[in-house]
Amino acid sequence: MRTMDTSADLSERRAGVARLFDLLAPHYDQGGVPWFGPIATRLLELVAPAPGERAADIGCGRGAVTLSLAEAVGHDGHVTAVDLSPAMVELLTTRAVELGVGNIETRVGDSSEVGLESGTYDLVTASLVLFFTPDPLDALSHWVSLLRPGGRIGLTAFGDQDPAWTAAEEVLLAFAPPQVLDARTSGRQGSFATTDSLARLLEASGATDVDCHDEPLEVTLPDADAWRAWTMSLGLRQLWASVPEGALSEVLERVGTALEADRGADGLLHLTQQVRYATGTRPG
Ligand SMILES: C[S@@+](CC[C@H](N)C(=O)[O-])C[C@H]1O[C@@H](n2cnc3c(N)ncnc32)[C@H](O)[C@@H]1O
Repeated sequence: MRTMDTSADLSERRAGVARLFDLLAPHYDQGGVPWFGPIATRLLELVAPAPGERAADIGCGRGAVTLSLAEAVGHDGHVTAVDLSPAMVELLTTRAVELGVGNIETRVGDSSEVGLESGTYDLVTASLVLFFTPDPLDALSHWVSLLRPGGRIGLTAFGDQDPAWTAAEEVLLAFAPPQVLDARTSGRQGSFATTDSLARLLEASGATDVDCHDEPLEVTLPDADAWRAWTMSLGLRQLWASVPEGALSEVLERVGTALEADRGADGLLHLTQQVRYATGTRPG
């Protein structure tokens, strides 16, 4: 059942997401492990941006999708990058200037409140964003409405992980505050539970030619300390912050025990995450 949020609830939830990502921004994707980059690369392969296209990247973060998208659409194309978090947008803007990329315009705010024009985009992308929205069908319907007829949308979310990785995260989740919005909580419920349910959500939002499937992404790390260092550069940082100081060494030990099941013959931990890719088209 869909719950009705008041506008004050909605503002508070959006402000909470903005605060979270403002805190994460300096560390975000700085863990030295290929993660958001490979996911963005695959998403862009699937939606195939073409030179001259006009695109919107929703929940752009530090630009894992945005920067490659801007390169793909080229000087004749344009990318509008939107994020609730001012810190994320500032880091993306700085990076774009450093790289001399001139076809990105950034906007801070919720995707429905930053003046994106309906029916005008060739392409909308949103990588690892939808599970942060209070009403995913409402958000997705808006994103599809931004497309011109025949325009494409591409999303990512997370599917299953290998059992050892799940067990390690469960150690942390035991400390999570109730109703934390994250890939590990809201991102595994309801419409996010399966490829079929996410495909149905995208269809219900008005898209056709919908495809949704999982592809594995492997991460290789030496040990649990490296896992902690890396996950501090992800949304999981908020879960680590919930672990009381006095419990940290025991938590690390339990995480280490859980992850041992992923140790391969090469002596390294091999963790596998299924990444969920969903694409669709606005009917003409
Ligand atoms: C997990 S990060 C993904 C960032 C980027 N797409 C990437 O792949 O690295 C999710 C981002 O979505 C943003 N976000 C969440 N809900 C949003 C909304 N309704 N409108 C705009 N941005 C949103 C967050 O602030 C955060 O920066």
